[in-house]
Amino acid sequence: MTARRPLIAGNWKMNGGLAQVDGLAGALARRLADTAERPFDMLVCPPATLVAAVAGEVLGSPLMVGGQDCHTAESGAHTGDIAAAMLRELGASHVIVGHSERRADHGEDDATVKAKAEAALAAGLVAIVCIGETLAQRDAGETLAVNRRQLVGSLPAGATPANTVIAYEPVWAIGTGRTASPEQAQEVHAMIRQVLGESLGAEAAGAMRLLYGGSMKPGNAAELMAQPDIDGGLIGGASLKVDDFWAIAQAVQ
Ligand code: G3P
Repeated sequence: MTARRPLIAGNWKMNGGLAQVDGLAGALARRLADTAERPFDMLVCPPATLVAAVAGEVLGSPLMVGGQDCHTAESGAHTGDIAAAMLRELGASHVIVGHSERRADHGEDDATVKAKAEAALAAGLVAIVCIGETLAQRDAGETLAVNRRQLVGSLPAGATPANTVIAYEPVWAIGTGRTASPEQAQEVHAMIRQVLGESLGAEAAGAMRLLYGGSMKPGNAAELMAQPDIDGGLIGGASLKVDDFWAIAQAVQ
């Protein structure tokens, strides 16, 4: 079986300021540096305006820094947006694309997410591609169909285990404290792995990291990450508290 190094990723969303950079990113970098055995990768994704500050704060440490979104274009008249290459230049190594909050707030469809992921790959970033169903879709028995459609429609051309991570984030679990059960999450992750096998081949599918996101906390991280197709977490609220985020990383088996 392909060994996949767990990834613990924090999505800071639109939270925090420069003080948070020192208090959180610096503390995580120091804990990582003081930990000889690190059976996981750790990533924080601040607002785009803070990427350079966070990257500067943790320069030389094992803590990775990413962005939360990027435009599909390399440059141009796109007020308020940021290009993937600009994130890369600011020190980012990853970027989240297709988050349900972007899909909802900005009307991003699968084609847009795919284009953003491809722009990220072209800029040398790792794309964390998010998919997930709403509660209404789950209640209607559409969970697997919705996530399959989103995955097939959002997967970038040229995706490999080195440049793409898939994050399953049930919309009804984001920020609600209502976490998917390990069984619910594993069912979707297994489907994701199968679809990736159809698209990329069994070896690539077996090596690609699949993250769960949606109220992952210190109290439920271990049972979620014990699932065979869950390779880490994409964490919102708990990533803003250094002890909670660190505790989730310690839950890696
Ligand atoms: O991208 C991760 C985020 O959507 C999950 O948020 O607060 O439920 O951990 P939260």
